[in-house]
Parts: sequence; C-alpha cells; structure tokens
Amino acid sequence: MSTSPKLTIKDLRVSIDDREILKGVNLEVKGGEVHAIMGPNGTGKSTLASALMGHPRYEVTGGEVTLDGQDVLEMEVDERARAGLFLAMQYPSEVSGVTNSDFLRSAINAKRGEGNEISLMKFIRQLDEKMALLEMDEKFAHRYLNEGFSGGEKKRNEILQMMMLQPRIAILDEIDSGLDIDALKVVAKGVNSMLSPELGVLIITHYQRLLNYIKPDFVHVFMQGRIVKSGGPELAERLEAEGYDWVKEELGIEDETVGLKA
Ligand SMILES: Nc1ncnc2c1ncn2[C@@H]1O[C@H](COP(=O)(O)OP(=O)(O)OP(=O)(O)O)[C@@H](O)[C@H]1O
Ligand SMILES: [Mg+2]
Repeated sequence: MSTSPKLTIKDLRVSIDDREILKGVNLEVKGGEVHAIMGPNGTGKSTLASALMGHPRYEVTGGEVTLDGQDVLEMEVDERARAGLFLAMQYPSEVSGVTNSDFLRSAINAKRGEGNEISLMKFIRQLDEKMALLEMDEKFAHRYLNEGFSGGEKKRNEILQMMMLQPRIAILDEIDSGLDIDALKVVAKGVNSMLSPELGVLIITHYQRLLNYIKPDFVHVFMQGRIVKSGGPELAERLEAEGYDWVKEELGIEDETVGLKA
C-alpha cells in the first residue's frame, strides 16, 4: 500500500541562536532517487539534516518542507519518523542502559503504533537477517546503543537502524566517514539493498569514493547555507579531483563558510 514518496524543500531558512545557517535551501527528493550533497565543512549540511528531522535546536525561520504534500515543519519529531523520515547521524549518540535491540524494537513499534506492534519472532528474524547482511556480530544486538562502538561500528549500526525502520526518505549524513574499505562496501551493500521506488535517499558525503558504491542520480554542491549547483555523478568526480575553488569562481562566491568566518 505504500506509495512513492516525495520530499520537497522550498527556500528553507534555519537559524541557530539567531545566526542564519540555512539561507534558502531548495531540493526535491523522490522515491527511487539517490541524491548526494557535497560541500565544504561548516556550510550547513548537517544542519539541513537536523532541521528536517525536527531537532529543537534549529529554528526554522522561513520556507517550507513537505512530504507527499503534508507539512513536515508542523510535525513533531515522532510524527516525522512515522511519516517515514530517517536520519543516519554524522555523530550517533551513545545511550547507556538501552540495548541496541530494545532500542530498535521500540523505534519500530513507535512507528507502527499501538495495537500494531511487531511480534518478537518477526523482529528477531528481521534483525538477524539485516545484521547478517551487514556482517555484524550478533553481540551488537545486546550491547548498549552505540556505547563503546568504534566509529565504523556506529556507522554500520545507523544503517542497521535504517534497514529495520524501512523509511521512505533516508538522510545519510557522512555514513562513510571513518569506515575502512571493506566496511564501506558493506554499508553500501546495506543501502543498495534498500533502494526501491518506495525510498528516496539523500547522502551527505565529502568523498566521491562512496558514490562509486552507491550510485547517485543527482549531485548537489552545498555552500553558504544553500545548494548552489546541481548535476549528475560527473560533478562529484570533478569536485574530488579539483576541490571547490572552481565552483566558487564560477558562481562568484568569495567566502564559502558560514561558520568559521561568520
Ligand atoms: N547545535 C549547534 N550549536 C551551535 N552551532 C551549530 C550547531 N549546529 C551547527 N552549528 C553551526 O552551524 C554551522 C553549520 O554546521 P553544520 O554541522 O551544519 O556543517 P556541515 O556542513 O555539516 O559541516 P561538516 O562537513 O564539517 O560536517 C557551523 O558553523 C556550526 O558550528
Ligand atoms: Mg556535517
């Protein structure tokens, strides 16, 4: 019964402590599409991800975000998750006292709603299957969420969450950072196994390398709090080879950071 999702971001403006970080982001992500965002440090990529998920620290001051025409900005954080938005975080938090498996089961049940909880058998079956695909040792199910996980293990665990939660729009913020070559392939395999017309993917990355494994349909350059240029996979290759100076020159951008120099 699920339909192809459409996330529409129009002229989104977001401030932190009265400092404007996002300065008019425009983007549309549809089911079956993979979008990649690349851009210098501190330009607002993670801020976009957090604002889309409804992180209270990020104040939306303008623009709109809709998912299948529904106003996302009006939704509470849990409603956004239920509507199918998912974020694999750049810096996943550690939660002591809650096992990975308990966390996943409550997240799935929160999404499914009361009276429609997943059976324990089905949950375990799915968890085993996804963990096997991600080549994760079963002990990770019983460890506290992210506690003491290595950088790469945390990233793999974010993808496990995505695979278990089956989102409609997945935002993956630097899932490749800190991964060794083999882990990168495994994480890409996990993401690729999810690709379907029912899922739209937004990948934030610094390196073209990941995009060798997860093929993007669109590549966007993020600078000064907005998307300044869009293209196909060849854009990522040029950025990797030449950096961002040519984009700045082409667009007449002098200062690429909103952060360090603001
Ligand atoms: N919670 C916060 N509190 C204070 N400042 C913040 C917060 N989140 C983001 N910022 C600031 O907003 C700016 C954009 O940060 P953001 O994390 O979105 O950048 P980014 O593009 O993801 O960078 P990177 O490539 O390094 O991950 C930075 O100057 C950052 O310091
Ligand atoms: Mg970031």
